Amino acid sequence: MTSIQSLEFKDGKLYLIDQRKLPEKLSMFECKEYKDVEFAIKDMIVRGAPAIGVAGAYGIVLAAKKFLDLPKEKFLEKIKESAAIVGNARPTAVNLMWAVRRMMNVLEVNRDRANSEIYEILLDEAKNIEKEDLETNKAIARYGNEIVPEGATILTHCNAGALATTGYGTALGVIREAHYMGKNIRVFADETRPRLQGAKLTAWELVQEKIPAKLIPDSVAAVLIRDGKIDVIIVGADRIALNGDTANKIGTFMLSQMAKDFKVPFYIAAPISTIDFDIKSGKEIVIEERAATEVTHINGVRIAPEGIDVYNPAFDVTPNENITGIITEKGIMRPPYLENLSKLKERH
Ligand code: MRU
Repeated sequence: MTSIQSLEFKDGKLYLIDQRKLPEKLSMFECKEYKDVEFAIKDMIVRGAPAIGVAGAYGIVLAAKKFLDLPKEKFLEKIKESAAIVGNARPTAVNLMWAVRRMMNVLEVNRDRANSEIYEILLDEAKNIEKEDLETNKAIARYGNEIVPEGATILTHCNAGALATTGYGTALGVIREAHYMGKNIRVFADETRPRLQGAKLTAWELVQEKIPAKLIPDSVAAVLIRDGKIDVIIVGADRIALNGDTANKIGTFMLSQMAKDFKVPFYIAAPISTIDFDIKSGKEIVIEERAATEVTHINGVRIAPEGIDVYNPAFDVTPNENITGIITEKGIMRPPYLENLSKLKERH
C-alpha cells in the first residue's frame, strides 16, 4: 500500500515533497508563508491539479498566520490579497481556484470572529480539503476498477498519482487499485516531455509499488495503440468543462485521437472539484504557457541552440467525443456529457 504523502502541514508550516528533485532525491520543501506556496506552485515543487488545490488552501492558512496581529479589516484585506496571489499561481487547473474560493467562503462566513479564531477555522477547512481529497481518490479508484479488465495493459500520461494529489492518485489510483486487487495489470508510462512527470514521477511511484511497468518515449504510444498492445488509456485532468471537454497535460489530446481511431477505451479519472461547471466548453479554458527553458534544457543542461524560439503550452484540451468515460468519486460519467454533467451540477 502506498505511503507516499505529497504534503503535510505541521507546526504552522507546510511541507511539500520537492517534486523537482525526484527521483534522485526525496526531500521536503518548507513553506513558512503564503509567498513560499505561490513559488512552490509556480516552480512545480508541488504540481498536479488536486495537490496544488490543497497547497493553495494551506497558503491561505499561512497568510492568516502572517497577518494575525493586524486590525480586523486590514487582516481580512490582506488575506484576500494573498488569496488572489496564490489562486493565480497557475491558470489551468481549476482545483486551485476551487480550493481558494472554498477557503474565502469560510472566511466570509466567519469574518466577525476574532483573528485567532478565524485562523483556526481556516486551518480546519484546509485539513478538510486535504482529507476529502484522499477519500475522493479512493472512491475514484473503486469506481475505476469496473473499467480495468483482468490482465489489462494500461497506458497513462504525465503523473496523476499520489504525488499529484494528497495520496493514492486519480488515474494512477485506479491503476494502483487494480494492482492491489491482483488483476495482473501492466502499465506503459509516457515520459511526458518537456517536464518528464512520467519518467521522473509516475515511474518512481510504479517502482515503489512494484507494479509491472515500462517507461516509453511519448512518440512510442501511437505505435502501441495501433498494434493493439493497449487495452485502456487512463489519464487525469486539470479542468473539465460542462460538455466534458477536458484539459490535461500536453500530449493527452494526441493520445485520445489515436484511441478513437483504433477503438481503445479512453478514460479520464478526476474528482468533481476538477469540473468547472461555470464553463460550457473547452474553448473557455486558459492554457498555461511555460518557460522556453523547459524545452531547450534538460536538468539544467542546454540541448537546443541559443536563439531558437519555443512554443511550450503545458496542457491541451481533449474534445468530449474522444472520451469514453470520466471516472469521478460519484461514479463514471458517460456521454452525453453536457446532459449528465449538468445533472451532476444540480445535485452538487
Ligand atoms: O503540469 P502538471 O504536472 O501540474 O500537470 C499535471 C497533469 O496534467 C495531471 O494529469 C493532472 O493535474 C491530474 S493530477 C491528478
